[in-house]
Amino acid sequence: MTSDRLANLSLAEQACLTSGGTAWTTKAVRDVVRALRLSDGPHGLRRPQDGSLLSASVPATCFPPAVTSGSTWDPALVRRVGAAVAREASALGVDVVLGPGINIKRSPLCGRNFEYFSEDPHVSGVMGAALVEGIQSLGIGACVKHFAVNNQETDRMRVSADVDERTLRELYLPAFEHIVREARPYTVMAAYNRVNGVYACENRWLLTQALREEWGFDGLVMSDWGAVNDRATALAAGLDLQMPPDGSDDQVTAAVKEGRLDRAAVTTAAARVLRLQERVDRAERFDDWDVDAHHELAREAARAGAVLLKNDDDLLPIDPMARLKVAVIGEFARTPRYQGHGSSRVTPTRLDDAWGALRQAAGPELELTFSPGFTVTGEPDSALVEEAVAHAGEADVVLVFLGLPEESETEGQDRTDISLPRCQVDLLRSVAAVCPRVAVVLANGGVVSVSNWRDDAQAILEAWLGGQAGGTALADLIFGAHSPSGKLTESIPLQLQDVPSYLHFPGQDGHTVHGEGRYVGYRYYDTLDLPVAYPFGHGLSYTTFSYTDLEVEETGENAWTVRVAVTNTGSRHGEEVVQLYVAFDEPHPTRPRHELRGFAKLALEPGGSARAEFRLSGRDLAWYSTKRGGWRIDPGAFTVEVGASSRDIRLRAEQRTPGDGIADELTGTSSLGEWLDHPVGGKLLRERLTEHPGAVKLDDVDPLVLSAVAQTPLAKFTGPILGLTREAVTALVAATQKETS
Ligand code: BGC
Repeated sequence: MTSDRLANLSLAEQACLTSGGTAWTTKAVRDVVRALRLSDGPHGLRRPQDGSLLSASVPATCFPPAVTSGSTWDPALVRRVGAAVAREASALGVDVVLGPGINIKRSPLCGRNFEYFSEDPHVSGVMGAALVEGIQSLGIGACVKHFAVNNQETDRMRVSADVDERTLRELYLPAFEHIVREARPYTVMAAYNRVNGVYACENRWLLTQALREEWGFDGLVMSDWGAVNDRATALAAGLDLQMPPDGSDDQVTAAVKEGRLDRAAVTTAAARVLRLQERVDRAERFDDWDVDAHHELAREAARAGAVLLKNDDDLLPIDPMARLKVAVIGEFARTPRYQGHGSSRVTPTRLDDAWGALRQAAGPELELTFSPGFTVTGEPDSALVEEAVAHAGEADVVLVFLGLPEESETEGQDRTDISLPRCQVDLLRSVAAVCPRVAVVLANGGVVSVSNWRDDAQAILEAWLGGQAGGTALADLIFGAHSPSGKLTESIPLQLQDVPSYLHFPGQDGHTVHGEGRYVGYRYYDTLDLPVAYPFGHGLSYTTFSYTDLEVEETGENAWTVRVAVTNTGSRHGEEVVQLYVAFDEPHPTRPRHELRGFAKLALEPGGSARAEFRLSGRDLAWYSTKRGGWRIDPGAFTVEVGASSRDIRLRAEQRTPGDGIADELTGTSSLGEWLDHPVGGKLLRERLTEHPGAVKLDDVDPLVLSAVAQTPLAKFTGPILGLTREAVTALVAATQKETS
């Protein structure tokens, strides 16, 4: 069908399909193809009221941004959010939702971290796949962005993310790979930045080799808005759709006519636009959605994503039926911070605030007072502080709502520090001085440092950005109608200087060198055993859980099933995120000490138990060898770890893998040690040395001497040392290749 329609189109018409029609649509061509509507994304729809780039958007449900939905560790919930977003997309005439954003949180300073899920590719991949599945379950297209290594906003349209291939393969690409393989997104968005010097939109290695040839992507690649620099180069690299249009379609036809661009590249890209239309034309179409039900879903997601960092003496929850005086302090309780700034900004259908929600849910004997304490823009105001301290002095418990000002979390800009505004920390100290029972509720999309104030709070509830129903979700948690069940998808460092990318971020002279390599977040802190404020995976509950009966069953070659029992040992209903890590103990680490390979969220009644089950495959043990140009599993021991955070491993089991059985190809520059360890080459070399009259007998050589020369290339042994000739080395290489091919 696509090919019939394509045959109807001239080169100029095909070229014109490869750029947008307006800021938010593709082009219609005669009656062959209709214009498709694309809208941000990712945590709700930003469907502009008119066609312009910066116009206000029509109301839609503002679900919690990815920082919060990621912290739920609940893909089933995120799938439901995706389906709700798709339903709204359908009702608003949108064909493709521009999300999820799945870039890795390399540094807490990235201004768009609120739009991303995690510092870990497994969490990002699983949660991103869930959002794609949810959106596409109604036939609306999803768009996975920003491909790739777009982890900073500084100089985002030009900067080159300089990353070695192993780090790309093991950290920055796996989430994209997972989503492409498992959720089959209709579209992918190529990022603004360059990757190792080549613009992502012109990067054939990324857009064609990795994405399509290796991972089997069969959808359309569009550019980020304004990311294309050279149409012909981008098309040749595998970019199908330039957004928004810039009037350069004739450059495409000219490039074909002048022989600079293969016509087939244009036809292929146009075909992918047609195919996208065929796919989204099969979507279920709705006229409306249940505004209340979607608001409730947003509330559920906000609730499930809040992370209880600390809760000394079980300060939380507060019994709403108790006779207590509770002082609510902080402007964010009344004026919520609920999403970040930039292209993802949604005009909500309604907006809950915690102050209103707490009042509504409080019993008759709970006395609540409110004082703003500070202004949303963060200017100090002594009168506000005085009022707050007076309220705190009379209260049994104080709830202090702190957070980042809106302007510090925006697309297009990175932060320069991770501190809370000074006036908020000072306010907290003044309040804590008059009332010892203080719970802090945080609103922020990027991590904030807690080191200089956490001792002033008995409890800390990290609520992130809660979306439009975040206020009621907080009342649910504070009054204990639900227990917190979110966990950190990123480490909270003690200070910014501890962050592994600190010395490289955001780079200079147009380059951001990823000098920390694979050691991002817990991959760094845990490998070096450095202290953090709160580790990756951490999050408390109002109840407690025990882990028992770890079983690891080998189910095939490099295949295992891991089972563990988890019991709710407290007195309240709760949910636990069980985490599975694979650890390699190496004296000189060449890989992170351990890496997350699975997680499951279990809901348990008091005393109830359930089993979490995970599967491990060879890829979970593999590392990417650039020498081999592929994944590699070394034979040997590894440890299966199951726990409640990366620093709270409850059970361990040691296992062995036979490796992948693939021996590296040997050459003359392979070392003596590599030759001797090689199953075929080692045998042939030994035979050769035994047969040759003048050759050294390896068994007679002092082992210390042998280990001293083990790293020397075999070709260096020609001449008197081992008694090999150049011809003999060439013959050995040929014989080994013959026997292994
Ligand atoms: C952002 C994308 C967004 C696009 C369209 C760009 O500036 O990077 O995430 O989808 O604008 O609004």
